[in-house]
Amino acid sequence: MNTQHTAREMIQDTRTQGTHEGYMPGFGNDFETEALPGALPQGMNSPQKCEYGLYAEQLSGTPFTAPRGQNERTWCYRIRPSVKHTGRFAKIDLPYFRSAPDVDPDVISLGQYRWDPVPVGETPTTFLTGMRTMTTAGDVNTQVGMATHVYLVTESMVDEYFYSADSEFLVVPQSGRLRFYTELGIIDVAPREVALIPRGLVFRVELLEGPARGFVCENYGQKFDLPGRGPIGANCLANPRDFKSPVAAFEDRETPSTLIIKWCGQFHETAIPHSPLDVVAWHGNYAAYKYDLATFSPVGAILFDHPDPSIFTVLTAPSGVEGTANIDFVLFRERWMVAEDTFRPPWYHKNIMSELMGNIYGIYDAKPEGFVPGGMSLHNMMLPHGPDRDAFEGASNSDLKPEKLDNTMQFMFETRFPQHLTPFAANEAPLQDNYIDCWDSIEKKFDGTPGRK
Ligand SMILES: [Fe+2]
Repeated sequence: MNTQHTAREMIQDTRTQGTHEGYMPGFGNDFETEALPGALPQGMNSPQKCEYGLYAEQLSGTPFTAPRGQNERTWCYRIRPSVKHTGRFAKIDLPYFRSAPDVDPDVISLGQYRWDPVPVGETPTTFLTGMRTMTTAGDVNTQVGMATHVYLVTESMVDEYFYSADSEFLVVPQSGRLRFYTELGIIDVAPREVALIPRGLVFRVELLEGPARGFVCENYGQKFDLPGRGPIGANCLANPRDFKSPVAAFEDRETPSTLIIKWCGQFHETAIPHSPLDVVAWHGNYAAYKYDLATFSPVGAILFDHPDPSIFTVLTAPSGVEGTANIDFVLFRERWMVAEDTFRPPWYHKNIMSELMGNIYGIYDAKPEGFVPGGMSLHNMMLPHGPDRDAFEGASNSDLKPEKLDNTMQFMFETRFPQHLTPFAANEAPLQDNYIDCWDSIEKKFDGTPGRK
């Protein structure tokens, strides 16, 4: 008879002293954790025989030869080696889950776009079948660029597991709660938190409170990292200790299961007779994590002018060109506005990067109406955008007292690559046809009169 451990029970039973609710703090730390005492070898990675008859296996997140400081790998001590978690593959179709390049000649990606929240459908959907790709950028085959998705989850994945060889997933919940059972442990996320699932890590997603909707930034390129702070110094923005990686938890389940793999933009399934989430202990710095966006300490204008939005970068995925991100994950959250004699909302601009924004909750200061929680907007490469007329007039004429932007949280996935709309985003998602009308009523004020403002 096989013992069935729920991973949550394992966490409760084996919580490591000094951790917080089954998580270990730190960003890119060299973690170690074991769900059974003595399962983790000490002083070496690959003993002749592992405790409990476990198999040692390395999961590499960077090439073996990546420089120290960037090199990431994790040693897993598991019930079976991963080769027992795959068999022959069959291709399957997830028609709404797209990868770059995905340029449809009938879709116009050039334009400023905004969507109402994508509604949950009547057909039950899991984290995989409910994935709705909105935009793609770059090329998954050459590991540059990204995709943005909306997920709609009404049911849990049962005896079904997934990993992406193409990408890491930055998951941004907007409503509902999810539990990620991963090879390295369990991560629960709710709105206002994000989760990062590394490339190659097997997981399944359980619905804790639904229906659940949120956003995913699928990063084909180099991993997300913390941005350099420059003159800001050693603190503020996202602090490393606020990132939480799970303690080890495992399933010892002999149940017919399906593993689905995303590989070069295509989906493949393989049947296995057991759960692949069988890592009893692990150590290393290639790990899943979550982050509470409420711990992001924003830095901004304290006298005049509006800094570039890069000041709000939570995570950045480099592209190889210094200062030019494959993706920046940027957060607009509650903060004080105190700048004097300043137009305080984001200014009008035209950006070489392309910007996909989502609203988690509240009102965005540049667009007081129309950009609702669960909604998205896209301002593509070199397309002008900025405040609507009411936001402009309001901010130009307001009494500039210190003001708290409260109960508000939006994010941006900003990439150096143009983002192409999927047919779903262009034709099926609730696109607001009148979005560009928000700038229609902006007036010409100039008549050459000196002193006029
Ligand atoms: Fe912008």
